[in-house]
Amino acid sequence: LVLVVDYGAQYAQLIARRVREAHVYSEIVPHTMPVAELLAREPKAIILSGGPASVYTDGAPRTDPALFEAGVPVFGICYGFQSMTQALGGEVAHTGGSEFGRTALHVTGGGVLLRGLPVEQQVWMSHGDAVTAAPAGFTVTASTSGAPVAAFECTERGLAGVQFHPEVLHSEHGQAILTHFLYDVAGARPSWTEANIIDEQVAAIRSQVGGKQVLCALSGGVDSAVAAALVQRAIGDQLTCVFVDHGLLRAGEPEQVERDFVAATGVRLKVVHAQDRFLAALAGVSDPEEKRKIIGREFIRVFELAAREVVSGGDSVDFLVQGTLYPDVVESGGGTGTANIKSHHNVGGLPDDLQFGLVEPLRALFKDEVRRVGEQLGLPAEIIWRQPFPGPGLGIRIVGEVTAARLDILRRADAIARAELSAAGLDREIWQCPVVLLADVRSVGVQGDGRTYGHPVVLRPVSSEDAMTADWTRVPYDVLERISTRITNEVREVNRVVLDVTSKPPGTIEWE
Ligand code: XMP
Repeated sequence: LVLVVDYGAQYAQLIARRVREAHVYSEIVPHTMPVAELLAREPKAIILSGGPASVYTDGAPRTDPALFEAGVPVFGICYGFQSMTQALGGEVAHTGGSEFGRTALHVTGGGVLLRGLPVEQQVWMSHGDAVTAAPAGFTVTASTSGAPVAAFECTERGLAGVQFHPEVLHSEHGQAILTHFLYDVAGARPSWTEANIIDEQVAAIRSQVGGKQVLCALSGGVDSAVAAALVQRAIGDQLTCVFVDHGLLRAGEPEQVERDFVAATGVRLKVVHAQDRFLAALAGVSDPEEKRKIIGREFIRVFELAAREVVSGGDSVDFLVQGTLYPDVVESGGGTGTANIKSHHNVGGLPDDLQFGLVEPLRALFKDEVRRVGEQLGLPAEIIWRQPFPGPGLGIRIVGEVTAARLDILRRADAIARAELSAAGLDREIWQCPVVLLADVRSVGVQGDGRTYGHPVVLRPVSSEDAMTADWTRVPYDVLERISTRITNEVREVNRVVLDVTSKPPGTIEWE
């Protein structure tokens, strides 16, 4: 275990991910955690993250010098580096030489962290203050024009630090530097692998669940699929999955769950075909928020009914599987606490009179780890690499009332866009590409010999890291052309294809 102490940087999660990419398990803890508590976790090493503060600001988080006396290796990054310097008696100053972005690093030699790496290399900087004197006993191993001490180490004590951000990809050799610290300074071993994650989770699920029955709602998305597959691996037929087909999925997706997922995992699946029920509830409604509420409400009701059937059909159900991921855990207060608000929220509300314990086998994992675990469990690539898709599905991609006919049009247009984007090899570059049917808008066209009066569809390809912000993806013109030609030729009701070139903000990714 490596602990990443979060000094309030957006980089702490990234650091934790990079440590895990080096196959070492890591967790994020708040900087307010006392040293005794940190040490009680028995970490192999501790990494101090960057942060927005200056060590000179009143109330800036400090690092307790006791941390460096415990014999546990510590690596300071950016603010963590400065705060470490201060705690160990070195000097940090407002030099006026602030550096932001790509910066040339000059390696002056000696030490372990930068061993074997180029003398001149690019690193990513973001700092105002700079370390002007390393603590006694430390070797300075690199500098930049704005940071005379850009890296130092005292490997006898297992201590090291860098002013730059090794965790960002713009630092060319960042991962190598981090790895040197983990393996060569801290003596960590590369034991965090997919196979080990699966073994550990299988054991944990078995001990949590015992002989009890477990229920899981499958959405067709990667998280619930991997969570279910892990639980299935652990307890087999004690798990029942429920898949509510609300009729708002894209072409082929219900089959992916009903056929491919079951074939890959052998899971016991109860499918509820509730298309008619959802359509009836949505009839006459065009307001986006109202549509969302209706879909959410109906989903809970249908799931609840199915859960009751499973319950009455056999033993009582004691546990519910949740696909909660590590970023959710960190963002909702973090730690290893009990069920948090957000994870309940993910289910969309649990039936009040059914009491479930939560099984959350992905609680410790980042999205990319979830995907690798899914691959290792043998899940189909279509499920593992599926783009994010909103719970209310196509219901919020039809601007206007949702009807069976409109869903059919949108499904056909969406399938073409997806197929062409995949064929062009753009799947990993594009975060997601909603296709939106402007069902209440009509425009005049000419197709074949005659005038048409059809609907436009909007292509909304976006690039994003986390869906909080996004930019529109510059899809090559020839790909756009193929999509446009095929949709207008093959989907008779659509006579116009338009491209959304709005970033988020101001536009959200979905139209509703
Ligand atoms: P917006 O439109 O808010 O979307 O920019 C951000 C991301 O969230 C997805 N999204 C949802 N996911 N339930 C979900 O599970 C929802 O109700 C929902 N609404 C939006 C959207 O696809 C994008 O990835």
